[in-house]
Amino acid sequence: MKAAFFRQHGGPEVLEFGDYPDPVVKPGEVLVDVHAASVNGADWRVVAGSYGPVSFFPYAPGRDFSGVVSALGDGVTDFQVGDEVFGVCDVGIEAAYAEKVAIRAPLLARKPSGLSHVEAASVALIGLTALCAVEDTLQVRAGETVLVQGGAGGVASFAIQVARHTGCRVISTTSAANIDYVHSLGADLVIDYNKDDFTQMVSGADAVFDTVGGDVAIRSYLVLRPGGRAAFIASGPKPPPTPRTDVIGLRPAVGRDRAHLDRIRTLVSEGAVRVPEITVFPLAEAARANTLSRGRHFRGKLVLQVR
Ligand SMILES: NC(=O)c1ccc[n+]([C@@H]2O[C@H](COP(=O)([O-])OP(=O)(O)OC[C@H]3O[C@@H](n4cnc5c(N)ncnc54)[C@H](OP(=O)(O)O)[C@@H]3O)[C@@H](O)[C@H]2O)c1
Repeated sequence: MKAAFFRQHGGPEVLEFGDYPDPVVKPGEVLVDVHAASVNGADWRVVAGSYGPVSFFPYAPGRDFSGVVSALGDGVTDFQVGDEVFGVCDVGIEAAYAEKVAIRAPLLARKPSGLSHVEAASVALIGLTALCAVEDTLQVRAGETVLVQGGAGGVASFAIQVARHTGCRVISTTSAANIDYVHSLGADLVIDYNKDDFTQMVSGADAVFDTVGGDVAIRSYLVLRPGGRAAFIASGPKPPPTPRTDVIGLRPAVGRDRAHLDRIRTLVSEGAVRVPEITVFPLAEAARANTLSRGRHFRGKLVLQVR
């Protein structure tokens, strides 16, 4: 099969496109013909070796995808060949930048019927991450004020809509070019981070979801009310240190499972959440997509069209 892979760690330019070994389906796994694979901020970091060296070369990255079931491993009874599915690979196991992927059945769910494969691939990991942060970890409630940092990014695009659907007042930050987009997702107040300091514009927030990291993450604690909580996904495996003793910093555990994928499908099917703005690249241009991803100033999601 064809895949995008790397033979050594380095910048996105080390990603090449070519022949790659077909995956072997083990008991309990499903073989999926991948139609679209999502590009995530983790991918260029895996290519760079930022999480440590990968265990073999050549190595195909890619964590989430949408496609069609083409074979079933022993013991799989909940899918049939021909089912349209979307999914998120197990932690530490990639390989979605490929024409086929073998994946444990519980990490797959039926594709939302109203979405194309490109659209379904775009929402798998970002939707799962946003749900783990906003619903499971922050447990936001109707009437609360929530600041979502980095509103134009993929995870934040989904998170803003989930918080709004819950009945929260949503504030978000972005650059001037994306203000209209972030408003369109349902944010009540959108702050241009190049013009205004969010710590001067927001106070007494019940919750913050930070997707930006660095200094933005640390300063996010300042806008919380006493007892407020903040969740961080761009500051490493732990929340950043808080300068306050009266607020809580949390690192969502982003478990990958069918229940969260089913929840994504429900929210999309009900019209509570729409897919983010998507820029599509052919799989052969995975290097170009990852260069854009590493720059961190695109809008919504980058998706690779595989077939
Ligand atoms: N399982 C997990 O824990 C998990 C899963 C998924 C993602 N993540 C992490 O979560 C983070 C977000 O990922 P993502 O894919 O949604 O987006 P991303 O690709 O990291 O970020 C892109 C967005 O960030 C915005 N941005 C950059 N600097 C900003 C700033 N100072 N203030 C506000 N917005 C800013 C950009 O908007 P502008 O162009 O307007 O600046 C752009 O739309 C990444 O670090 C990623 O690795 C973690």
